Amino acid sequence: MCGIVGYIGKKQAAPILLEGLKKLEYRGYDSAGIAVRSGDGEVRVVKTKGRLSVLEERTKGGTLLSGTCGIGHTRWATHGEPNEENAHPHKCTDGSVTVVHNGILENYRELREKLLASGYVFRSETDTEVIVNLIDYYRKKYGQGPVDAIARFMTRARGSYAVAVLFNEFPDEIFVARKDSPMIIGAGKGEMFVASDVPAILSHTRTVYYIDNLELARIRADGIRFYNIDRRETVKQPVTVDLDERAAEKDGYEHFMMKEICEQPRAVRDTLHAYVHGGKVEFPCPLPKDVTQLVITACGSAYHVGATLQYVIESLARLPVRVELASEFRYRDPILPKGTLVVAISQSGETADTLAAVREAKARGIRTLAIVNVLSSSIAREADDVLYTYAGPEIAVATTKAYSAQLMLGYLLAVELGRLRGTVSPEDVSRYLAALEEIPERISELLNESEEIQRFAAEHVNVHDVFMIGRGVDYTVCMEGSLKLKEISYVHTEAYAAGELKHGTISLIEDGTLVVGVITQGSVAEKTASNLEEVRSRGALVVTLGFDRMQEGAFFPIPRTLEPFAASLAVVPLQLFAYYLSVQRGLDVDKPRNLAKSVTVE
Ligand code: G6P
Repeated sequence: MCGIVGYIGKKQAAPILLEGLKKLEYRGYDSAGIAVRSGDGEVRVVKTKGRLSVLEERTKGGTLLSGTCGIGHTRWATHGEPNEENAHPHKCTDGSVTVVHNGILENYRELREKLLASGYVFRSETDTEVIVNLIDYYRKKYGQGPVDAIARFMTRARGSYAVAVLFNEFPDEIFVARKDSPMIIGAGKGEMFVASDVPAILSHTRTVYYIDNLELARIRADGIRFYNIDRRETVKQPVTVDLDERAAEKDGYEHFMMKEICEQPRAVRDTLHAYVHGGKVEFPCPLPKDVTQLVITACGSAYHVGATLQYVIESLARLPVRVELASEFRYRDPILPKGTLVVAISQSGETADTLAAVREAKARGIRTLAIVNVLSSSIAREADDVLYTYAGPEIAVATTKAYSAQLMLGYLLAVELGRLRGTVSPEDVSRYLAALEEIPERISELLNESEEIQRFAAEHVNVHDVFMIGRGVDYTVCMEGSLKLKEISYVHTEAYAAGELKHGTISLIEDGTLVVGVITQGSVAEKTASNLEEVRSRGALVVTLGFDRMQEGAFFPIPRTLEPFAASLAVVPLQLFAYYLSVQRGLDVDKPRNLAKSVTVE
C-alpha cells in the first residue's frame, strides 16, 4: 500500500523516480509526487491527484525537475482524501525536511497536538506530515543529527511505516527507516536506489539490501550505513536478486491481469516442480511430525485458498484444519494448543494482518509455516519455515496466478501430510502427483476456450447481481470467483454454500438474476443441481460450470481432474468472466478503484 522510490547518483533523478513509481503503481494510485534536490540545494516538490500519468505530464516526464537526488511516492489514501495537498512528499513546517511514507502512524493525533503546541503548522490531513514535523522537532531539540532524529521518531511512533527522508542540511544523502512496511535499497555503481519492492529497481541493479524492521540507513551515492534503533551501526550483506525483469512487464498483453491469467499453467507447473522430485514431495523444511491441527490464516484470495485447503487437507490427511481471516485471528485471543501449526498464506508476504497473525502465533510458542510468493518478504523472513510459490511477480491488483500457485502448493502439503500420517498410501501419492502434473495442461485447455466466456460476458455486460453457489471445494471456488467479479467489474455478487441459499438469500432472486453453479464434487453434485432448480423456478438465469452437464441452460465444461483439485480448474472461467466483464464495461482492470495490491496497513 503506497509505493516509495528514491535515487541518489550522477543521473537525473526525476525520470528514474517516475520509472520506479510506474512499477509500483499497483501499490496505490490515487495521487503521486516526487521531490528532487536541485543544484542550489533546494528540494522541489511536485505532486498531483490521480494516476501517475498526470504527474508525468505535469513534470514533462521529469525533465522539469533537475537534480541527481530525490524521493517519490504513489499513494493509497489512509488519512485524508486523495488530493494534491495530501499527496506525498511532505515537508516540515520550515521546509528543511522532506518525507515520503508508506504505512499508518497510529498515535498521530496525540503527536499532532504536541507539535501544534510547539508551533508547527499543518497543511494536510495526513499522518505523514506529523512524521516529518516530528523528525524536524527531534533534530532541532537534540541537535544530534539525522540518524538520531529518525531513531527518536521511531521510538515514539506507534503503527507501521517505511519512510524516505531528505534533510536540507545533508544534501548528499537519503535516509530511510522501516517498521512493518517493506523497503529495500538497490546498490549500483556510484548510485543507490530505494524502493518498496524489487521490480521497481530491477532495470538498474540486482544487488539488494533488505532493511529489517526497526532499522534505518543513511544512503550516499557511493555507500550505505545501517543502524539499529539504538543508533548503533550494523553490518548488512547484500543479496543478488535473480528475477527476470520482463516478468514484471506486460509483454504484449493489454492488461497485466490477462498476462497473469495466461501465465497460470507456468506458475502452477513451476511451483509443482520445485517440490516434487522422483515421484516424492520434498519440502526444504521437514513438516513437524507431532502436528495435531492446522490453522490457516490469510486475507483476500489467499484466505480463499485456505478455505479450499481446509477441505482438501482434512480429506487427504484427516487432520483438523481451521481457516481464519488474519484480521480476526490476530485480535481474538485464539486457542492454539501445542501441536498446532499455523500456516500463513500471502502473495506479497507483506499483508499487515497476516504478518501480525504470524507474530501472534510465534509469541505463543506456536510453529509457523509461510506460503509466500515474494522472496525475502516480511512474512517469509519472520515465519519459522517458508515454502515459496513460483508465480513470479504479480502486478495486477486482482490476483490470479499467485492464487493458483498457492493452491498447488497447498495440495502438495495435503499429500505430504497425508503420507506422513499414513492416510495417503504410496500408490495414492503417485495417483495424486500424476493428477497434479496434468493440471497445467488442463488450465491451458480452459484458456483456449476463453472466447466462449468472452461472448457470455458480452451478453451480460449490464448484469446487476450475481450469485455463485456450490458445495465443499466448489463453494470455495465461488468465494474466489465472486471476489474477482467484485474487485474488477464492480458487480454486486455473493458466494453462497448452495445448501445455505434458502436460509434467506433466495429472497433476493428475481426474474433474470444470474446464478452461477459450480458442480465438480460428485457426492454433492445432485444437491447443488437441485438448489439451482429451486432458483430457476423463481426466475433466475442459471449457468453451470462442471465436469458434466447436469442442467438446462448455459454450461461451461471443466476438464476432468481428481475432485480435491477441481478448484484449480473451475476458477479459471470465473477469472475470465470477471476480466472480460471489466474490459467490456470500460473499467481499469489492473487498477480497480479503491484497491491496492499489497495491503500493508490494517
Ligand atoms: C489484497 C489483494 C488481494 C489479495 C489480498 C491478500 O486485497 O488485492 O488480491 O488476495 O490483498 O494479499 P497477500 O499479498 O497477503 O496474498
